[in-house]
Amino acid sequence: MIKSSDFGADFLWGVAVAAAQIEGAAADYGKGPSIWDTFSAKSGKIKKGHKPNPSCDFYHKYIEDIALVKHLGFGVFRFSIAWTRIFPLGRGEINQQGVRFYHDVIDECLLQGIVPYVTLYHWDLPQALEDEGGWTSFSINEAFNGFVKFCAVEFGDKVKNWIVLNEPFGYTSLGYMLGVHAPGKTGLSNFFPAVLHTALAQADGGNILRSEIRNANIGTTYSCSEILPYTQSDDDLLAAKRVDCLINRLFVEPALGMGFPSADWDLLEKFQIEYGTWRLNNRMKFDFDFIGLQNYFPLTVKYNAFIPVIQAWEVKAKSRKKPHTAMGWEVNAASFYNIIKQFAAYPNINNIMITENGAAYHDKVADGNIVDTERIEYYKLYLAALLKAKNEGIAITGYMAWTLMDNFEWAEGYNARFGLVHTDFKTLKRTIKYSGHWWHEFLKN
Ligand code: NOJ
Repeated sequence: MIKSSDFGADFLWGVAVAAAQIEGAAADYGKGPSIWDTFSAKSGKIKKGHKPNPSCDFYHKYIEDIALVKHLGFGVFRFSIAWTRIFPLGRGEINQQGVRFYHDVIDECLLQGIVPYVTLYHWDLPQALEDEGGWTSFSINEAFNGFVKFCAVEFGDKVKNWIVLNEPFGYTSLGYMLGVHAPGKTGLSNFFPAVLHTALAQADGGNILRSEIRNANIGTTYSCSEILPYTQSDDDLLAAKRVDCLINRLFVEPALGMGFPSADWDLLEKFQIEYGTWRLNNRMKFDFDFIGLQNYFPLTVKYNAFIPVIQAWEVKAKSRKKPHTAMGWEVNAASFYNIIKQFAAYPNINNIMITENGAAYHDKVADGNIVDTERIEYYKLYLAALLKAKNEGIAITGYMAWTLMDNFEWAEGYNARFGLVHTDFKTLKRTIKYSGHWWHEFLKN
């Protein structure tokens, strides 16, 4: 049986959330609208028409929620700052009530002995900036830098651990290429500029934090998935390579000073030439103190000439009769180990934190209990794979579970439950699931 002490006394155990998914109070206390407020107000964008407000109402319940983090045994709480709570229009006028709120959240963490890890951008772009083009527009970088600088100066005495971006590939692909997330834009003419400005923002953000905060521990996070070719045919192998370039390599390589992975895919070579990105290779580089990896599942891909751009198709876990979660995501802990190894192989990555990992299941409340045995099994498997990687000498310094409590899962609305704590979205009652009790026991020693 795996024990938390097997990871060593210094290992950090945390749990993660994001502002737009838990806070609620979306139009209150001076907060401006974000792209998720606007997007979710349109019909057909979010399953069952769910809205991110009031969600878990963390805005009013943060004290009890931080107490839950502590009760479950975690020493780290990862949360994000809603840009529009500080700058309702993205820049310019400051909303002091928002500033006060994050001071209160940070102070409460410190009071309860919890270390805050603060994410600066977890997808809730100010709508006012989206009206200028959002991540596709050159003006985003100056606005983002202003937001980062403000947060660094305001909170930097109390918060030492910072995450610049959450999953850059996640929001650029879903929001600016596929259009299934806010702001709902599609096509390469939106995707490529969004990628470029995002790659600049991650380095700029790092530099600003470094210059404003003494002893800052600065990271950023990447979604990642081991990419497995469906067969060993040349077509499938090349399809897997393209998907790997996009999903795993697109943002980490510029941060490491390698530029975009254009040598491995002619489409990226075209992007590099068209936008002159190679000229910016130095500016996109930043020496992060830690790299955050967020992994849930591997992807099995097959060549398909009819799929635009990528010419690859995912062969779903269900059709391959593999175990999967309620999201259809394959449960495969060996692939977690493999993708950690893939990132650890970059010469400049020498501190990895798992900043998200977890699973959604169709949890049922019975007699006030939520017996989510599958989630417990998922965590046991993934933690064992993590320990294996760590014991082989990879510098993994922490692990954060996604997520504290069931919350607004973006386009899935409230249907996908990832929490260790069950949220009743009618009464806002929180009930610790069996997996939460499992974590409490696991972290006890
Ligand atoms: C990625 C995102 O960072 C988070 O917001 C989301 O809820 C989880 N993964 C699960 O999909």
